[in-house]
Order: sequence, then structure tokens, then C-alpha cells
Amino acid sequence: MTNDNAIEVVGIQKQFGTQVAVDDVSFTVGKGEVFGLLGPNGAGKTTTLRMITTLLRQDQGHILVNGFDTVTQAPRVRQQFALTGQNASIDQDLSAMENLVIFGRLHGLTRADARSRATELLGDFDLTNSASKSLDQFSGGMRRRLDLAVSLIGNPSILFLDEPTTGLDPRTRTQMWTAIRRLVQHGTTVY
Ligand SMILES: Nc1ncnc2c1ncn2[C@@H]1O[C@H](COP(=O)(O)OP(=O)(O)OP(=O)(O)O)[C@@H](O)[C@H]1O
Ligand SMILES: [Mg+2]
Repeated sequence: MTNDNAIEVVGIQKQFGTQVAVDDVSFTVGKGEVFGLLGPNGAGKTTTLRMITTLLRQDQGHILVNGFDTVTQAPRVRQQFALTGQNASIDQDLSAMENLVIFGRLHGLTRADARSRATELLGDFDLTNSASKSLDQFSGGMRRRLDLAVSLIGNPSILFLDEPTTGLDPRTRTQMWTAIRRLVQHGTTVY
């Protein structure tokens, strides 16, 4: 193990009944890298991500996240990353700004710090003009961008995205990738 790796996956295997979902997978992701896992439907991408994020335990092998073991040090591992893909967490009755401030407060920021970080993220994700709109007026792409902004309010060192641009139009896709590239310049590892 070296300190330059954000993620080390070593020989992991996962079986559901008789079906092998992940078969002896190993890879490493360096700090500050953008790493993509590609494969056809059912290849085991989401299952692999669930093991790395401690939501599922592998049958064999081990995984280190910023040097912490996903099985024996799961709570420490969970402090290292944010995960997006499910936008269940954002509240439809609140504005974009209010959602960001609430999540900032949940991450322990003061009210003033939460507001200033929220303002910064709204700018990064091209949502400044929609800051006070309630989410029921948001398009699907705007919601996804807000979801990504919310997941970043605690400045995670690693960000996991499961199919972040699926279902988005080409212009919104480009905006997402521009936002993701900007994160990398700020030192986040994206998987
Ligand atoms: N909880 C589960 N119980 C049983 N089988 C599962 C479970 N989760 C995943 N599988 C099976 O494991 C295999 C890998 O699924 P997984 O969701 O990891 O694929 P994926 O690469 O993310 O696919 P997609 O591109 O469709 O999202 C599939 O055959 C799937 O049916
Ligand atoms: Mg999947």
C-alpha cells in the first residue's frame, strides 16, 4: 500500500446464490484521478461500487479506501467519500439554496459557512439564477446538478458516481462533465 492511492481493490469476488457477480477484480485509483469502470449491463459495476462504499461485503479479497479497510474500518471509510446517483435526499418543497444550506449544517458547517459554500456550489453548477426556485420547478438535469452539488458540500476527498449522465441531454451532460472536471482541479478523486 502506498499513500498515493485513494482506492485499492485486491482480488474481490461476490456471489449471489450460484451467480458470480464479481469475479476476482483488482485495480487501484490514485489520489486526484478520475477513474471509470466500464462494462455491459450486469457486468458487476454497481455491485463493485457497493462493496467499495461499504454497502455490501465481498466474499473474497479486500478493499482499501484512503488506506482504510472497507470491512474492518467501515465507519472510517464512510468519512472519506460522497456517493451520488440516488437523489432521494433532496427535499422537493425547499429551494436549491435551502437544500444546500441544510446539508451544509448537517456536515457541521456554521450557518454563514454553509451559505457561502452553497453560493459557491450554485455557481459551479450553473444554478445561481435558480437558487431560490423550489425544486418542483427544476428539470431533470438541474436536479442532477443540484444532487451533485449537495454531495459536495462536505468537501469529500472521493466522489463516487454511478451513471451520472444517464438520461441527460447532450448539453446537460457536457455541463456535468465540466463540473466534474472542476472538482478534480480542487483535489477530489472521482470514481
Ligand atoms: N442483490 C442482488 N441479488 C442477486 N443478484 C444480484 C444482486 N445485485 C446484483 N445482482 C446480479 O449481479 C450481477 C451484476 O449486477 P450489477 O448491478 O453489479 O451490474 P452492473 O454492471 O451495474 O449493470 P448495469 O450496467 O445494468 O447497471 C447481475 O447479474 C445482477 O443480476
Ligand atoms: Mg449498475
